[in-house]
Amino acid sequence: MSDEERISGRIQELRAIIEAHNRRYYQLDDPEITDVEYDRLMQELISLEQDYPQFKTITSPTAQVGAAPAKAFTAAFHLSPMLSLDNAFTEAQIIEFHERLKRMFEIPDSINYVVEPKLDGVGINLIYRHGALAQGLTRGDGLTGEDVTANLKTIPVLPQRLGQHRDFPDELEIRGEVIIFKEDFRKLNEKRLSEGTPPFANPRNAAAGSLRQLDPAVTARRPLNIFFYALGSNQGNNFSDQWSVLQALGRWGFNVNPLVRPVQGINSCIEYYRELNKLRPSLPYEIDGMVIKVSSFDLQRRIGSLSRAPRWALACKFVAKQEKTKVEEIIVQVGRTGALTPVAILKPVAVSGVIVSRASLHNEDEIRRKDIRIGDWVLIQRAGDVIPEVVQSLPNLRDGSEITFIMPQNCPECGTAVIRLAQEAARKCINFSCPAQVRERLAHFASREGMDIVGLGAALIAQLVDNNLITDPGDIYFLNRQQLISLDRMGSKSAQNLIDAINRSKNPPLNKFLYALGIEHVGQQYSLVLAQNFPGITELVSATREDLIELKGIGPEAANSIVFFFQEPQNRQMLDKLARAGVAPQPLLATPGKTSALMGKSLVFTGTMEKLTRPQAKVIVGAAGGMVKESLSRNIDYLVAAANPGSKLQQARLLGIAIITEDDFLKLAGETV
Ligand code: IVH
Repeated sequence: MSDEERISGRIQELRAIIEAHNRRYYQLDDPEITDVEYDRLMQELISLEQDYPQFKTITSPTAQVGAAPAKAFTAAFHLSPMLSLDNAFTEAQIIEFHERLKRMFEIPDSINYVVEPKLDGVGINLIYRHGALAQGLTRGDGLTGEDVTANLKTIPVLPQRLGQHRDFPDELEIRGEVIIFKEDFRKLNEKRLSEGTPPFANPRNAAAGSLRQLDPAVTARRPLNIFFYALGSNQGNNFSDQWSVLQALGRWGFNVNPLVRPVQGINSCIEYYRELNKLRPSLPYEIDGMVIKVSSFDLQRRIGSLSRAPRWALACKFVAKQEKTKVEEIIVQVGRTGALTPVAILKPVAVSGVIVSRASLHNEDEIRRKDIRIGDWVLIQRAGDVIPEVVQSLPNLRDGSEITFIMPQNCPECGTAVIRLAQEAARKCINFSCPAQVRERLAHFASREGMDIVGLGAALIAQLVDNNLITDPGDIYFLNRQQLISLDRMGSKSAQNLIDAINRSKNPPLNKFLYALGIEHVGQQYSLVLAQNFPGITELVSATREDLIELKGIGPEAANSIVFFFQEPQNRQMLDKLARAGVAPQPLLATPGKTSALMGKSLVFTGTMEKLTRPQAKVIVGAAGGMVKESLSRNIDYLVAAANPGSKLQQARLLGIAIITEDDFLKLAGETV
């Protein structure tokens, strides 16, 4: 076979593979490979076609956008084609894009670009006539899309009529991305699991699936959201550049992503790319890169477009976040409430720069739904935040040696027969003294978010439990130096440090104490609500289910579990023991009826403070009814920026979070409202 034949064969093969994946991705909302793997195939085809232009065809997937509309919906023409974007994967490729423009079009280094997050959702095109929404289409093959108008109309943030401003053309085409926020996605999947329907793989698939419902009433129940980013390409006439379009969209009532920025020159684009990548885990929605657009429409016209994508824009993807690895084993962990959780032990693999070697599989229903077997190849990703998860198994790679996992009928830790409650997905070990449960309860109690006993970590707790020195949280406060020194690897200095840390933890803010108790369904938020409404444990112990349900945000499930917790004799004894040891939580409300200015607020600290240590600041925030968080997100109220604040300062500016000084903070903490 000649080289040419071989190349032509590979090109044919790549086209067929990519077309098959396009269909799965665009029409079935059920991709079989990761975006990264898809991009790799596409890049290989692009470079082969560049090197061997004799094999180029206008039907190649490199010249197409997406896949033809699915049959279930009517196809309709876009007024102007919906193009795709060329991809860059490295900073070098971003610079190359800029250098090419400079070379070919004699543009200055300081060219105006607009940089935007690349939203990981579903592209849509809306056609407005005389200010009213006439038609809404998916991208389809770029020329025609599926008419999903009725479904789009159910999305609350979608303007069905344009605002009172009259500066919009009679016929207007507006483009944006339909997305589902991470938190909404989590809730949606939780609900689906509880209803016995299979959860969605990721927010993008959930958004795509929701838009493709035959019954708009189903779409209406899905938490869809949209950010808008462009006009149809032939509508630019009234505007001079992309930046003024984004502003006009805002004026007309369209949601524009708050992170879009006008910048000059490519270095600012790269700076933004790095910032955005850092910000990515804390954003409430998924993004998979940045988009750079030449802002001036004159320049855009001069630069022009190819059949698939404009040459004046570039999608700069972030590094791979999904990777392939092997499930070597599935182990079962017992949590503090006795719930059994299957965990995949993975062949270690780097995902976005972090080595992942295990991932929770949540429960047996999840394992069955994703059909994950011991020995399977699977796709791993670090979902929005940092927690690794198994996205799916890759059944095509099986060789027959894989083993189906079966949940044990007995607790792997204490051997007690496990039960599965009718309403719950998890199996439970109901032995309150199960060593695993005891250890987990203690670790939770001592954790930073709880009593914050510095130095009392999981390993030491295991040692203390194994030596029968502690079984419940109260025992921690009766430990003495002698007992500690008798432990392996414990010197007298560390023993003293631990005793000091234990003593220092005796007066936590009430909310942290409540959280530390580990009452089922009572997390940090509920603990705060309880502490804001009850002066102390005594009052809480005598609260009824009805009292609790009246509190804002406390649901019946949590209320039941709180009442149950305080009725249990073991728990009462534990609380007595803690009180005898001198553990006295500090009430949040010193003066009834008054609340502090930090009540319910979330703060992040950065830099080195002059007057306070971080732990002191934390106690102050906690006592004032606020919360200290580690990372920034849009839910944060204040960033306290001290000396040498680092990258958080810039992130906070991008997110529009109030930035205050150490003194401002102290003032706020002292203020009552
Ligand atoms: S502009 C010709 N801006 O990415 C301009 N697209 O891979 C093309 N996308 O089809 C669209 N965020 O669905 C643009 N800020 C953004 C975007 C964005 C996400 C999607 C869009 C597009 C796809 C191309």
